Amino acid sequence: MFNIEDFDIKLDTEFIGRNFIYSDEVSSTNRLLLDTEEYSKHGAVLLAEYQSQGKGRKDRVWLSNSGQNLTFSILLKEKLKENYVNFINLGASLAVAQSIENLYQLKVELKWPNDVLINKKKVAGILLESVSRGNKIERLVIGIGINVNQPSFQTKFEIPPTSIRLEFNELISRERLLSDILNNFEHILTMLYHSTDKILSDWKSRCKMIGEKIKIIEGEQAKYGVLEDIDEKGFLVLRQGDKTELIHYGDVTLR
Ligand code: BTN
Repeated sequence: MFNIEDFDIKLDTEFIGRNFIYSDEVSSTNRLLLDTEEYSKHGAVLLAEYQSQGKGRKDRVWLSNSGQNLTFSILLKEKLKENYVNFINLGASLAVAQSIENLYQLKVELKWPNDVLINKKKVAGILLESVSRGNKIERLVIGIGINVNQPSFQTKFEIPPTSIRLEFNELISRERLLSDILNNFEHILTMLYHSTDKILSDWKSRCKMIGEKIKIIEGEQAKYGVLEDIDEKGFLVLRQGDKTELIHYGDVTLR
């Protein structure tokens, strides 16, 4: 059972998580924050103990044992300029990485666009979804799934999963972890409105794939090249011979 008081005591934000909704079971926290008019406060956070239809990137499902992990979404309604979205995406994985490093002294790696890895195993994933009217983004939902205390994993995945508990060898306080991530995320968001340089350099310093040969899977297609950089807009720069290409979306796998 998640203890809201323990969480609240450590929450040090102005707006992220100040409207906190806790639920035993939902279809998907992303879906609810995207679709429910009643949840409309900028910075609202919805945490569910169980999702019956948890969504992953690229139409995959996100499976997470009930009551052991963190599956939550953050709703943003203000300052949603198109060019901020890539950085909000990178910033969310950075916030998770910083919390895991600071609270448990574990080494965290980031994989573009936003997977969080420990010892080459996936500990957290992030899914951004939005509702737009015309060119204007009206709602942006940042969905974060973190394997926190799950002791084992059944299904086979492309990147093997792990949990923080498995890597740290101790039971983790989900309350402390969630408050810390939200504190970091608000700090990153505030920074982002002034400059994206620090977010980009902090993110890149945790990405071990830069300079490596990679394979990008887009639908049925695979592209091979070298991950040259993440550019100033947050896009992946793929080098193929003397050509470079900007990659906006896709699954990146080390070749
Ligand atoms: C991925 O790595 O494929 C992204 C996984 C995102 C999962 C989270 S759990 C909370 C939120 N609600 C969802 O349905 N999905 C995201």
